[in-house]
Amino acid sequence: MDHFQIINGVLHVEDVPLPRIADEVGTPVYVYSQATLVRHAQVFRDALLNAGVDNPHIAFAIKANPNLGVLRVLAKEGYGADVVSGGELTRAMAAGIAPEDIVFSGVGKTAEEMVQGLKSGIGQFNIESEEEGRELAAFAETMGLRATAALRVNPDVDAKTHGKISTGKAENKFGVAYDRAAGIYGRLAHLPGLEMRGLAIHIGSQMSSLEPLEAAIGKLGALIRDVRASGNNVTHADLGGGLGVPYQRDAVLPPPDDYGAMVARATKGWDVRLMFEPGRVICGNAGVLLTRVIRVKASASNTPFVIVDAAMNDLARPALYDAWHDFDAVAPTGQTGAAHIVGPVCETGDTFAMGREIDTVAANDLAVFRTAGAYGATMASTYNSRGLVPEVLVSGDRFAVVAERIMPATILDAEHVPDWLD
Ligand code: LLP
Repeated sequence: MDHFQIINGVLHVEDVPLPRIADEVGTPVYVYSQATLVRHAQVFRDALLNAGVDNPHIAFAIKANPNLGVLRVLAKEGYGADVVSGGELTRAMAAGIAPEDIVFSGVGKTAEEMVQGLKSGIGQFNIESEEEGRELAAFAETMGLRATAALRVNPDVDAKTHGKISTGKAENKFGVAYDRAAGIYGRLAHLPGLEMRGLAIHIGSQMSSLEPLEAAIGKLGALIRDVRASGNNVTHADLGGGLGVPYQRDAVLPPPDDYGAMVARATKGWDVRLMFEPGRVICGNAGVLLTRVIRVKASASNTPFVIVDAAMNDLARPALYDAWHDFDAVAPTGQTGAAHIVGPVCETGDTFAMGREIDTVAANDLAVFRTAGAYGATMASTYNSRGLVPEVLVSGDRFAVVAERIMPATILDAEHVPDWLD
């Protein structure tokens, strides 16, 4: 069931009409549906359980949506967290996620971040290089601890997604080279500061086919056998995230059930606890970016520019990855027409769509960019001295501001003119 529905001609998130949020919080604003988040969390887990994956460890990749309210929803669903920075670790803990359910990924963990992770007692470090593993082992030993860890391997598989979000090819910075992985694992396993327990992969994001994942999982299986053959333990395998979501109404993506069945098939007989790091598939379709049309401007052609108050600083994905987000009027009249959808920021990259057939909208109308719950607010910036976009969580007929709008004046307050310029 969809929690974004037109009721009496007006788009609602659950039972809340979007104009009410626009009136009270202003625009642009991200709006999330709690029921959708919960449903996606359950569907993903059920897909694994129904396929026979026993006791999966699911760590939400909180980079996709690190909002505290959102994390709290997922914590209550029993989700752990995949974090990639000290800031994300702090958030995960603040949301009430148990430290043992936190996985620390990331190719450039700093000394401070490793120590923070050790002090917090997190469940697993995903080590991305032998150098990092040795550093982590040394810190742990000094602190009288052993860091529980997995080694992230780069399986050299093309995820067949956008180049900027593809992570599993040999030339990408992530993980250790596949051919060297067994050797590195063995050497790290001998360090007293490390408890090596597993192997990890993550080959890319917004994957629209399961084949690359299945290929990568196959290579991981062969590696687990090699590592065990040389006398080392492997009790955990982290399969990362990467499942795509439909950004266009008619797009067909692999359903979670197919993913679960593929995982069960490809990992048969591994005798490990499987771990997962889904991000987008949990929160992508649970959010919209609510925006107001500033004005409609005639162009040199017959196609007008619809200038909205959201911009590339609020939703960077179209500018960064040429990403598509469906655009719908909050109170559609039934009329449609071709338009260019742009924001107010002063560069041509601030374009959400060119020549797209959309609901006809006029100045002051409200509209939404769909599927904006993942990699939306978290990638916002203050470019053009715009504020930071707020976030709202809806549950039934209630809503709460879960991240306030940070006004340009507040950002200015953190800047200083040096005394020599006084
Ligand atoms: N695990 C690791 C180690 C990751 O690097 C990522 C995402 C995930 C899990 C979660 O992947 P997901 O299930 O969300 O695909 N900003 C880009 C996406 C970057 C993804 C980075 N890593 C976008 O807006 O498309």
